[in-house]
Amino acid sequence: MCGIVGYIGKKQAYPILINGLRRLEYRGYDSAGLSIINGLLKLYKTKGKVIDLERFVRDRDISGTVGIAHTRWATHGEPNDVNAHPHYSPSGKMALVHNGIIENYNSLKKELLNRGYTFTSETDTEVLIHLIEDIKVNENIDIVKAVQMALSQVVGAYAIVLICEEEPGMLIAAKQGSPLVVGIGEDDFYIASDATPIVEYTRDVVYLNDQEIAILKPGEHIKILTVSNRIMTPYIQKLEINLGNLEKRGFPHFMLKEIYEQANSIHDSMRGRTSLQSGMIKLGGVKKYEDKLLNARRIILVACGTSWHAGLVGEYLLEFLARIPVEVEYASEFRYRQPVLYKDDIVIAISQSGETADTIAAVKLAKEKGVTVLGICNVVGSTLARITDAGSYTHAGPEIGVASTKAFTAQVTILIQMALMISMKKKTVSKERFLNLLVELNQIPAKVKKMLKANDQIREIAEKFINVKNALYLGRGVNYPIAMEGALKLKEISYIHAEGYPAAEMKHGPIALIDVEMPVVVIATQCETYEKVVSNIQEVKARKGKIIAIVTEGDTEVRKIADHVIEVPKTDELLVPLIATIPLQLLSYHIAVARGCNIDQPRNLAKSVTVE
Ligand code: G6P
Repeated sequence: MCGIVGYIGKKQAYPILINGLRRLEYRGYDSAGLSIINGLLKLYKTKGKVIDLERFVRDRDISGTVGIAHTRWATHGEPNDVNAHPHYSPSGKMALVHNGIIENYNSLKKELLNRGYTFTSETDTEVLIHLIEDIKVNENIDIVKAVQMALSQVVGAYAIVLICEEEPGMLIAAKQGSPLVVGIGEDDFYIASDATPIVEYTRDVVYLNDQEIAILKPGEHIKILTVSNRIMTPYIQKLEINLGNLEKRGFPHFMLKEIYEQANSIHDSMRGRTSLQSGMIKLGGVKKYEDKLLNARRIILVACGTSWHAGLVGEYLLEFLARIPVEVEYASEFRYRQPVLYKDDIVIAISQSGETADTIAAVKLAKEKGVTVLGICNVVGSTLARITDAGSYTHAGPEIGVASTKAFTAQVTILIQMALMISMKKKTVSKERFLNLLVELNQIPAKVKKMLKANDQIREIAEKFINVKNALYLGRGVNYPIAMEGALKLKEISYIHAEGYPAAEMKHGPIALIDVEMPVVVIATQCETYEKVVSNIQEVKARKGKIIAIVTEGDTEVRKIADHVIEVPKTDELLVPLIATIPLQLLSYHIAVARGCNIDQPRNLAKSVTVE
């Protein structure tokens, strides 16, 4: 939610800021703006995307070597020019960009209104910059002190960067809850909500911690103070992001590129962990907690969105293979419902970004209760990675498309390995079954590659369904979450209403919706409940619904009744989710393309939801 970029040094700030905003646009695209100091502080902002900002500043003075920029996902106030960031202080001499929500902004605003200030926007951010300047002027203190005092009054989440016309040689940044990374150049500094805008300039970064304020002055070392004025030692890390992953590489959309990357990303999430030669699975990141995992009373998986669906797949796998009771919780519910937690429970938080506010809050709650918390996360160095006791990175590489694809299959791959690792040690599956699964798992990347060859066929099917209003997705067992994920993908990018349901539950409600207009996507691969799913397909057909069936290659039974059939390569039924997800991703993608939707930036969504 909202992307922030800042630069201070000897280079022209504008290209760095605009490139950075383009990289961060996945975090929100309601409005964009920037502020640069060149003698005077200049501020340009507009409703719309980064490209609209580029058009807006085309004939304006954008020179200067210090600046901040912002791309917004609206929280307070509708997305318009006025509510766009940056926001001015009352004197117009300071500008601030902010990601997060200041919860007590109303009471702070009332106080400032009483003191005669006026506001042009409806945002909480304008309140904060007014407060900072008010404190600076009234207390007659320097700007860093004023920021400290203002932040000590703030309740909520923020990542902020501030520049001041009177001190053009300094950039101030602070964070609580929302992420901020400082890049350390030779004689300059970069700052951003994640490392992607920074990596092409420097690989040395400092991830700010909550309550920290960074003071960046070119020619001096980075200085970090806390809100309560403790001096902190910066921990400089090396970035390991492949720049090529941040480009579309000839694909029309990041989403399609990321769908196609899955053969590699699934392989990468197994690399060094699963070895056919030794017949072993080792998850180095959680090694220290292996005993705890083996003896866990329960595993509680917490996540949001697509990551929550990965958790549901994990529940089936962990219970089936490792015989440990599992609960899957929406992080947003878990954090507020006073969950009953035992010391021998293990909480595993799953998150692509590692920054989802609800997931982070759920982790903090579990930690407060003394429970071991592990993470499954894609973004190296993210908040989740830093606050969990241990974890496994998914290694899917940067995911830019707002609709999650390769991160999901990588999360499922980690969960499969975790379930297998525990089952091997606890001997809850036979050696033979374990080794079979290991062999099959190693063949998944090749089978995903084969699955992708169905792209043209899926596009043709998709074109027949571009005008539908609703869709139903059905699956059973480990494929029920895949049906939900398929439905979510369609909703997210094509704006068609879709529901994912356990196939057998259809008769308890959704069947009432079925008519000749209604596409029903059924995952009917070979498994224990195959015949039952075939009966569900018959029930849909009897009501004239249109069936798109995902079947195991060579299937003949479903072919006789379904309107469209997509074959997936044969594998162990527990591993089908890794392959059956692919045609569902492609189906939504092609439907959305044919409907002319914005694939990588679907309306109202953001990739990283850092507010509640
Ligand atoms: C947003 C994204 C989804 C994602 C969810 C959880 O809603 O649009 O694609 O699944 O957040 O994000 P996380 O980074 O925690 O996996």
